[in-house]
Amino acid sequence: MRIGILTGGGDCPGLNAVIRAVVLTADRTGDDVVGFLDGWRGVLDGQVVPIGTDRVHDILPLGGTILGTSRTNPFGVDGGIEQLLSSLTAHHIDALIAIGGEDTLGVAHRLKESSVSVVGVPKTIDNDLSATEVTFGFDTAVQIATEALDRLRTTAESHHRVIVCEVMGRHAGWIAVHAGIAGGAADILIPEVPFHLGEVCTRLMRRHGGGRFSSIVVVSEGAVPADADDVESFRRATSSATVDAFGHARLGGVGAWVAEEIEGRTGYEARVTILGHIQRGGTPTAFDRVLATRFGVAAVEAVRAGAFDTMVALRAGQIVRVPLADAVGETKTVDLDLYRSVAPLFWG
Ligand code: F6P
Repeated sequence: MRIGILTGGGDCPGLNAVIRAVVLTADRTGDDVVGFLDGWRGVLDGQVVPIGTDRVHDILPLGGTILGTSRTNPFGVDGGIEQLLSSLTAHHIDALIAIGGEDTLGVAHRLKESSVSVVGVPKTIDNDLSATEVTFGFDTAVQIATEALDRLRTTAESHHRVIVCEVMGRHAGWIAVHAGIAGGAADILIPEVPFHLGEVCTRLMRRHGGGRFSSIVVVSEGAVPADADDVESFRRATSSATVDAFGHARLGGVGAWVAEEIEGRTGYEARVTILGHIQRGGTPTAFDRVLATRFGVAAVEAVRAGAFDTMVALRAGQIVRVPLADAVGETKTVDLDLYRSVAPLFWG
């Protein structure tokens, strides 16, 4: 078989480990692998490179993706699907392995209507894809964010400051919750639970009144205030002018807004650090390398079994196949029992 592979959406530690595992597995099964460059854009434009075992030997620990990526949406391009189908035919592609998050895999699922044979591999540092317990990249992002919190703590303590750390998480606060717990944050603000800034400030003042003179507040980029007055000033400070091909605004700014409001309302000096792409870059953790490798092997097995319109997933320690529809149907948001049971520990 001739298998096409692509990586779409934001780059993510572990993408190259999946590519390597796909190529090495296909080599054993006697299948050919070609890479489409820059996600769905490469399929549309017929940008293809052969990938043999020689190309992947050294890429296991490498961050990013050797294939490049984009947020191209073929369904948003005039004649995009016809173009995509003729490109697949021209390059004699029997099946595609699409590695991505909700947008990339949403396209993969819709391609079933056009009889394209696709197997999905779940990728995102945000960990917000349904039907898998975890996506690769998440562990690395949490590790990086936790290390950042440890480092920020020393400055917060030395200068008696509140430091607000903004982490990624557009629809779901997984990174904020896990890094916040691991890093001993005083408060964690997530998209799933609109926050009351007045309550955040009261908790900080209680904490500082209790003899602590510094605090770390972790906030997901997608967190929003609950109170009407705050929503207004928040929108003015953070609204983004542009959206991507999947209709997502570029987020950023909540951390600065929260820090400014905390300083204004409590009188504590408050600073912000936005982790941004640092949490998405660089080498994957051992956990993510293992998970990505297992996903890559399983994706080739799924292709060979003709299990299309599925995604490989981690459930109870096992790699299984799940319908792509289940993965992209709804966002996997934070377990609020975990959030609500652990968060108050920091508020005392
Ligand atoms: O990969 C998902 C994500 O990390 C989101 O949390 C974030 O909003 C987005 O990527 C940022 O992507 P970009 O690099 O395109 O700005």
